[in-house]
Amino acid sequence: MEVVIAPAEELAVLAADAIEAVLRSRDEPVLGLATGSSPLAVYDELARRHAEQGLSFERARGFMLDEYVGLAEDHPQRYRNVIATEIAERVGWPAERVTGPDGAATDLPAACAAYEESIAAAGGVDLQILGIGTDGHIAFNEPGSSLASRTRIKTLTRQTREDNARFFDDDVDQVPTHCLTQGLGTIMEARHLVLLATGRHKAEAIHQLVEGPVSAMWPATVMQWHQHATVLVDEAAASRLQ
Ligand code: F6R
Repeated sequence: MEVVIAPAEELAVLAADAIEAVLRSRDEPVLGLATGSSPLAVYDELARRHAEQGLSFERARGFMLDEYVGLAEDHPQRYRNVIATEIAERVGWPAERVTGPDGAATDLPAACAAYEESIAAAGGVDLQILGIGTDGHIAFNEPGSSLASRTRIKTLTRQTREDNARFFDDDVDQVPTHCLTQGLGTIMEARHLVLLATGRHKAEAIHQLVEGPVSAMWPATVMQWHQHATVLVDEAAASRLQ
């Protein structure tokens, strides 16, 4: 695992460089997308490159990590809507080429299976962008998740719902209790994992990810087994590394 410690602006440029390399080198590039605060500066940098340098997403497919269950189609926090606003619309990425697990489906297990099939049919993910939760989750694989898990329904922990309440008028009761998430086994099949973390509140999770034993209690630690994993952190997030 490669760990880079740098100021946040530099981390965003490094991640954007890796994404641009995939976009330019593949006929049908496949990107894995995360929501949350961590990738926002990367999406800003990609939008800048699209506007100023013509970086094109037209041939790319995008697969989201996760989705809340039960939010109305037009809810601004539905991850499909979040991704459309934060990246897809800003870089001219055709909406039908960016998908996520269908948290509004009546048959959720079938939606999860269909999502796994659509990723496989696209040839798998070339580069997966990741954030990390303060409890060490990646996507919504909360502590205790099987390291071999696939896309499935999960219950969100109280901690994660509190962490995400800032997107729901600071009201934890508005945060959905369930989600659909790619499993750790699904994520591990991406050919390159790029995880971003900034801030002291991520320091324990980064310490466990980089230096802890691989354990389902810190799900991100499974990345230690990946052949090509890059961890991009600022000084604060790196502050507990030995
Ligand atoms: C979002 C996701 C989550 C976040 C994590 C960190 O699609 O999969 O795992 O990456 O909760 O969130 P932020 O970046 O908001 O600190």
